[in-house]
Amino acid sequence: MILDKFKIPNKIAIVTGAMGGMGFAIADALGEAGAKLILTDMKEDKSFLDKFKTKNYTFEFIKGNITNPDFPEELINFAIGKYKSLDILVNCAGIAASIEMENYDDESLTKMFDVNFKSVFRLCRQSIIKMKNKKEGCILNIGSMSGIVSNFPQPQVAYNASKSAVHMLTKSLASDYAESNIRVNAIAPGYIKTPMNNLPKENEHWFDKWNNYTPMGRMGKADEVATAALFLCSPASSYVTGEVLVVDGGYTSR
Ligand SMILES: NC(=O)c1ccc[n+]([C@@H]2O[C@H](COP(=O)([O-])OP(=O)(O)OC[C@H]3O[C@@H](n4cnc5c(N)ncnc54)[C@H](O)[C@@H]3O)[C@@H](O)[C@H]2O)c1
Repeated sequence: MILDKFKIPNKIAIVTGAMGGMGFAIADALGEAGAKLILTDMKEDKSFLDKFKTKNYTFEFIKGNITNPDFPEELINFAIGKYKSLDILVNCAGIAASIEMENYDDESLTKMFDVNFKSVFRLCRQSIIKMKNKKEGCILNIGSMSGIVSNFPQPQVAYNASKSAVHMLTKSLASDYAESNIRVNAIAPGYIKTPMNNLPKENEHWFDKWNNYTPMGRMGKADEVATAALFLCSPASSYVTGEVLVVDGGYTSR
């Protein structure tokens, strides 16, 4: 049955940024498809975790800051200690910042790359060490259409560059580890309604620009990214690796 290829029963899946808009939706999709979830985030939202309890998912929540250089190893060791396996890693945690180049200080630049790129690099490295032993694994990195086009009107040069780096990390790992049966893909979302886009009042006019420049005329919903994530984390995409799948309502097609 074709639909069975979207099922991932008892696969062990780590999702970072799981208390965020997209991370939660992706974890929900993987949980519904049968995965055992290890959720992580620097903040804990009890209402989110209660929803997963109601749905009877098997999950653990580990609170932590992914920029702590020790955290990736601790997280992956937790998965191996508890389940003896790690099948899926979804790097979804991220931050955005709208700062003009002239005012971009080193501290903000370092933070942007620590969260959006270096932690993803480290989590991929630790996962690949384990997945290579097993000769099987699947990694999904959440990049952005901002890693492909310089969207506007908001100035976000470092964010765009960090997401571009995530896309190239994805392609490089896909090429290097295909022989170890590890697939590595990314999703490049367009504008998605999540807390990341809770704009301050003075910037709310950006919404009109974003919608006007999106051919579909609206922002996306987190579950419209989660369905793509399930595809890339399941056997449904067994011949897909090194792909940056754009989910943007057509924004980058113009
Ligand atoms: N929302 C969009 O329009 C959009 C578009 C393209 C790409 N993205 C990307 O999608 C991903 C998810 O974003 P979202 O929209 O769900 O945002 P969100 O703000 O709702 O969620 C991000 C989550 O990451 C967590 N996080 C941030 N820094 C962390 C750290 N140092 N350690 C641990 N956790 C940390 C936050 O606590 C939060 O729960 C991000 O990588 C973002 O860059 C978002």
